[in-house]
Amino acid sequence: MSQIISIHSFRGGTGKSNVTANLAAQAAMAGKRVAVVDTDIQSPGIHVLFGLDESSMKQTLNDYLHDKCAVTDAAFLVGRGSTPQPGAAQLADKSLWLVPSSINTSEVSRVVRDGYDFNTLNKGFKTLRKELQLDYLLIDTHPGINEETLLSVGISDEMVIILRPDQQDFQGTAVTLDVARSLDVPTIRLLVNKALTRYDRSQIRSEVEDKFHAPVAGVLPLNEDMVELGSSDIFSLRFPDHPWSQELRRAAKTILNLA
Ligand SMILES: Nc1ncnc2c1ncn2[C@@H]1O[C@H](COP(=O)(O)OP(=O)(O)O)[C@@H](O)[C@H]1O
Ligand SMILES: [Mg+2]
Repeated sequence: MSQIISIHSFRGGTGKSNVTANLAAQAAMAGKRVAVVDTDIQSPGIHVLFGLDESSMKQTLNDYLHDKCAVTDAAFLVGRGSTPQPGAAQLADKSLWLVPSSINTSEVSRVVRDGYDFNTLNKGFKTLRKELQLDYLLIDTHPGINEETLLSVGISDEMVIILRPDQQDFQGTAVTLDVARSLDVPTIRLLVNKALTRYDRSQIRSEVEDKFHAPVAGVLPLNEDMVELGSSDIFSLRFPDHPWSQELRRAAKTILNLA
């Protein structure tokens, strides 16, 4: 049975999409079957990391939610058919699908205005797991606490909350953790991103664990090379020896239960 993992953060810009894409890539490189669903319908973006543009995204999650196609028709096998960068190109013969969210202005406005039916989304998750025989379904969520996010978190086997070492993130993470605990998510893990490299990683880990009474899967360093890459590729595949990639792989083993 596949595992549903939702990747969340209270605030935007914490690195959710980059972390989700890199976790999915590591799972796929380990021979696992994995799908990523971009449920950040109000501000989609993870498709950019996989090298998909509007013209290569024929059908999207929005089409499925509005009953215009099957969910599997919106599942794009990453690394094939588009023009991926050197990192994402390594996924060409792997089993990694992305269900992107539309970046068409009227589609985004429609969802912001009308929302969407969560039961349809949940049915779509089930179909993807079955039809694609997934080991993992990763959900890239919209930041903050909103109804749709709560519902997708509620059906997850595991939730990963990403936070930066920042007081605003700390307050928001406490709120998110309370909510996740009340939803009885079986496994909740924290993942610190953008940690200053001059601070000791294991100290940050134990401080965050003490503060939130939740396990920390990893402490990813602030990474200027990632800023330079600017979401144009999958960082850990492009630069596998970089300290960020090394820590991401360690965290991936924990989060994905990889041997
Ligand atoms: N560890 C890091 N160090 C520096 N920049 C990062 C790091 N992680 C992510 N970023 C950058 O932060 C921005 C937001 O990342 P993104 O993954 O889109 O976050 P979110 O999905 O949470 O909004 C991107 O420009 C990305 O390149
Ligand atoms: Mg994002």
